[in-house]
Amino acid sequence: MARVVVTGGSGKLGRAVVTHLAEHGWDVTNVDLAPPPPGQPAAFTRADLTDLGQVVEVLQRIDDRYSGVDAVVHLAAIPAPGLRPSGATFANNVVSTHHVFHAARLAGIRRVVWASSETVLGLPFETPPPYAPVDEEYAVRPESTYSLGKAVEEEMARHFARWDPAATLVGLRFSNVMDPEDYARFPSFEDDPASRRWNLWGYIDARDGAQAVRRALEADLVGFEAFVIANADTVMTTPSAALLAEHFPDVPVRGELQGTQTLLSIEKARRLLGYEPQHSWRDHVGG
Ligand SMILES: NC(=O)c1ccc[n+]([C@@H]2O[C@H](COP(=O)([O-])OP(=O)(O)OC[C@H]3O[C@@H](n4cnc5c(N)ncnc54)[C@H](O)[C@@H]3O)[C@@H](O)[C@H]2O)c1
Repeated sequence: MARVVVTGGSGKLGRAVVTHLAEHGWDVTNVDLAPPPPGQPAAFTRADLTDLGQVVEVLQRIDDRYSGVDAVVHLAAIPAPGLRPSGATFANNVVSTHHVFHAARLAGIRRVVWASSETVLGLPFETPPPYAPVDEEYAVRPESTYSLGKAVEEEMARHFARWDPAATLVGLRFSNVMDPEDYARFPSFEDDPASRRWNLWGYIDARDGAQAVRRALEADLVGFEAFVIANADTVMTTPSAALLAEHFPDVPVRGELQGTQTLLSIEKARRLLGYEPQHSWRDHVGG
């Protein structure tokens, strides 16, 4: 059984990731400052990832638990702008991610999958995107300190990959993470489309986010790669072409838009990871 350390495994996305990886045969240890949910199918070690010494230990050896780690999934972070002052968000997130990349290298762990963010695509799109659907092909354009941190992390990953050409560092640019209980409010978005314009009406079901993490762990990839990870549809019932025409009339549309297809392109993830979303909010509330 391969051993994976999941940081942030007590959080919203992390809980789904821990469960999914355990169900798919991974031996999982959750490393977080917050306690795990009851019954989580993983060991738990409390550590602060801004402390390099603690990160070095959790990626090498924890007394009575394990010696040796095969892969790291790094999700721990302050997960949005504004939750903490910007400097605190940057210090927590960027330093933690540096320490995870560095400690993985010291430990000889050559597969690191971590949470980047859709925000690097230019959210909240007060400056419209260069084209739609948006994808990984244009340079990052962070608009908040939280997002700047994710962009810096992607740049760090590029260099860690350069320093060890056998290493794989995968940045998953997750859309807005949703649990099934969040879907009850989705039909109300239809009354106020502008309220979800900020991320082109995208979302990611936490279980599909977990699937993307597993595929990134298992994919035949080397070097640094970033992937947009969203569901196959939007949060709306209005067709995507009509939303763009009304809210982003000057943004060039690439390709033929089908119905409510996502405007956060997941074609690269489909192609290189074999990612295919299994869930939709429509299965939960109709729509
Ligand atoms: N929630 C979203 O919509 C969203 C969208 C895109 C990307 N992301 C990214 O996905 C990841 C997970 O987000 P989430 O929504 O599950 O967040 P969350 O807040 O629910 O979970 C994050 C976890 O990280 C832990 N943590 C934070 N700093 C830590 C530190 N220094 N040491 C140890 N643990 C620490 C917290 O205790 C928490 O349990 C984050 O990296 C976030 O930036 C989230």
